[in-house]
Amino acid sequence: GCLLLWITGCQRNVIDQQQVTKDERIVIKFSHVVAENSPKGLAAERFASLVRRRTGGYVEVQVYPNSELYKDGEEFDALKNGAIEMIAPATSKLSAMIPEWQLFDLPYAFNNLENIPHFVNGPVGQMLLARLEEHSMLGLAVWHNGFKQMTNSSHPLQRPEDYRGLEFRIMPFSNTLKYQFEVLGAVAYPLAFSDVHAALETGGVDGEENTISNIFTQRFDQVQKYLTISDHGYLGYIVIVNKEFWEGLPEGIRKILEEALAEVTLWEREKAAEVNAQQLAALEREGEIKIHYLNAEEQKALEEALAPVYEMLAEDIGTELVDLMRNS
Ligand code: LMR
Repeated sequence: GCLLLWITGCQRNVIDQQQVTKDERIVIKFSHVVAENSPKGLAAERFASLVRRRTGGYVEVQVYPNSELYKDGEEFDALKNGAIEMIAPATSKLSAMIPEWQLFDLPYAFNNLENIPHFVNGPVGQMLLARLEEHSMLGLAVWHNGFKQMTNSSHPLQRPEDYRGLEFRIMPFSNTLKYQFEVLGAVAYPLAFSDVHAALETGGVDGEENTISNIFTQRFDQVQKYLTISDHGYLGYIVIVNKEFWEGLPEGIRKILEEALAEVTLWEREKAAEVNAQQLAALEREGEIKIHYLNAEEQKALEEALAPVYEMLAEDIGTELVDLMRNS
């Protein structure tokens, strides 16, 4: 009883944990597009169970994975109109609303994943997060997936010229990702994540870029012949809530949720690295897809071939922000 009184700040005499009825509960619907055994899927579940435990079931985080409830392109509206309360889209997907989020899509912008939380806490990251509020959203945390790799079916992608004439799926709707394939002489098509497997299977597109965990958990390895370990771009998420909903929560509850999220965020970063490494080992073992690790020289060639993307984004959002990314 005391726990609930304390967390809700509620004036009622006693609420026993057992008496939390359906009507009293606070339900947070958390919708995402990836598998349950992906870094984001695991972190969402962990957040839900920490919150359940720490609020005695008063707050229930319901996780909807695999685009079960909403797919790319639908989840922002659902969040804004209050149909759901929480999402964790890839940063690239925020760029349809706020083009500056494409900074995270710049090829080889981050030398290692550890730099990203610092970047998010710095002035540019804070500015980008603040801009979400214009869209009734609050960005609460950054969760990693990892670096993206390339997959395709026609031939191994080793040199920049190997991309010429191929068609790749990209995340909706980042121009930077489009430029990235265009400078290689390829064509890019934005497609919702839930449609990628079918597009690869039917040959609607030749290839795609993604982290190992997405390639593995979506079984892209069964519909693609080649995987190139290129580590050419970052895939990470912003955990976002509906601003009005969040600010309307009792303060004690909000504090518990924020602490749980901070803990899960640290856990998720370790877990993401672990999951990607394990799943790469599984792909190696299963051998459905042929894996090529770019050597240092091949990676340098790709990085150089992709360098013009910085100028292209600078034309869209200004040189000042883009210049900051060259050495982050
Ligand atoms: C993708 O669309 O490829 C990814 O953003 C999916 C995800 O959320 O990791």
